[in-house]
Amino acid sequence: MLAGKNILLIIGGGIAAYKVLELIRLLGKSGAKVVPVMTHAAEEFVTPLSVSALAGQPVRSALFNLEDEAEMGHIQLTRDADLVVVAPATADLMAKMAQGLANDMASTLLIARNKPVLLAPAMNVAMWENPATKRNVDTLRGDGCHFVGPDEGDMACGEFGFGRMAEPAEILAAIDAHFAVGPLKGKRVLVTSGPTHEPIDPVRYIANRSSGLQGAEIARALVGLGAEVVFVTGPATAARPIGAEVIEVETALEMAAAVEAAGALDAAIFAAAVADWRVASASESKLKKVAGKGLPELELVENPDILATVSQRKNGRPALVVGFAAETNDVLENATAKRKRKGCDWILANDVGGDRGVMGGPDNQVVLISENGAETWPWMSKRQVAEALAIKISEALT
Ligand code: CTP
Repeated sequence: MLAGKNILLIIGGGIAAYKVLELIRLLGKSGAKVVPVMTHAAEEFVTPLSVSALAGQPVRSALFNLEDEAEMGHIQLTRDADLVVVAPATADLMAKMAQGLANDMASTLLIARNKPVLLAPAMNVAMWENPATKRNVDTLRGDGCHFVGPDEGDMACGEFGFGRMAEPAEILAAIDAHFAVGPLKGKRVLVTSGPTHEPIDPVRYIANRSSGLQGAEIARALVGLGAEVVFVTGPATAARPIGAEVIEVETALEMAAAVEAAGALDAAIFAAAVADWRVASASESKLKKVAGKGLPELELVENPDILATVSQRKNGRPALVVGFAAETNDVLENATAKRKRKGCDWILANDVGGDRGVMGGPDNQVVLISENGAETWPWMSKRQVAEALAIKISEALT
């Protein structure tokens, strides 16, 4: 519940602005006060009348409005807010934020704010993937901005990919998580999850059977305890955890870069099944069968060990680093050695061999290994494993 919370909602100019009407309704139902600000472009997509009717508040849009300024200066709007939400956060608004521009009401409020900000980006997939947008997103993350979405899916422009704004319920969950008063409130935790795909050529890749379910459940359980969760996932089939900041990657190298970019962390949980090797030079065109030429040779090179790199950081090591050990034999022995070799605090060993169905299945059975020894947990659902682990993490961090 968001009773008594004051949300300064900045609506950018994109087709996803229509979804913000539903967000305002959900926020109102949760007890929040919504103070809406629209860019002029946003007014081309939804009418200020609809926004103000749902919010029960006048819409602010002009920077130089004598009446508004007399009633409430624009700086005061951010002073009164508990959280600033930007939805849709367009490429243009994020570029302005990253540059510190202040040439309209929305951008001026954003640079003048003294409150946390949550961005829900929405744009065409090519705009989202444009290097300039990526640079701006990295800058904003570095500045401490929080993100929800974007999601992957069909877009209003007819294309498919990342760039679709998170659904209103997802944005509401991220806002709820922001205000949650769980034992992990104020703790920033990273979770890696899913497989990685290592390209061989444009149509083939090396992969593994990970569904990403265990990682997604861990992220969900941590959000439930109030943590701010950065969820770095490979191309997994499991649903993404609502309330976490989701970063989608494909390869181990991209996962390593995303983990580096995540900044300071209180804890990091490495549930991803990262490919140990990648093809040294993936072919830019499809490898063809050529009669008499024999089989193609794939030269493999080792991927960076992300868990070991973070565990062995000289500066800025998270207080708690947790790895997984997927083993098919001598589980305890191998996992105990792996914990020492990689330098993490805990390792969750699981037997992924035979027909136990752990990889890709709904259940798991783990042994938690720490410097104090090994603790065998019973067979349970991956959700239960996640909840038990989240409680242990909160005990260790608080
Ligand atoms: N891991 C990682 N980066 C890699 C490989 C693994 O971060 N390049 C992490 C996994 O997320 C997991 C742990 O390391 O938390 C162990 O992964 P696992 O596949 O069991 O071990 P490997 O490092 O592959 O070792 P081995 O091949 O000897 O089993």
